[in-house]
Amino acid sequence: MLRIHANQCDEDPFSAQFLTVFDEAVASTLPADEELRRALHDYMTAATAEVSTVFPTTATVADALPMPRWSWSGPAA
Ligand code: HEM
Repeated sequence: MLRIHANQCDEDPFSAQFLTVFDEAVASTLPADEELRRALHDYMTAATAEVSTVFPTTATVADALPMPRWSWSGPAA
C-alpha cells in the first residue's frame, strides 16, 4: 500500500484535503456517534501521515513492514 502512494511529489498537496473529504464522508454516511467519528478521524490522520512520509520523490519503502492495527483508543500493539 505504501508503494502505491510513494514518490508522487516533494510537496504534500493531498493530506489535508484527503482528511477533510474523509470526515465529510463519515459524517454523511455513518451514525452520529462521536466516539466512532473521533476514532475514524484519528485513525485516518495517522494513516495519512504515514502515507505522506513516502510522497517525496526520493523516499523508499522498506520490505515486509508490519500491518498497522488500530483500536478505539489509538494504535494497538
Ligand atoms: C493523502 C492521502 C492519500 C491520497 C492522495 C491517496 C491517493 C490514492 C490514489 C491516487 C490511489 C490509486 C493509485 C493507483 O491505482 O495508481 C490510491 C490507492 C490506494 N490507496 Fe490511497 N491515498 C491516500 C491515502 C491512503 C490511506 C491513508 C490509505 C489506507 C489507510 C490508502 C489506501 C489505498 C489503497 C489500499 C489503495 C489501492 C486500491 C486498489 O487499487 O486496490 N490511501 N490512493
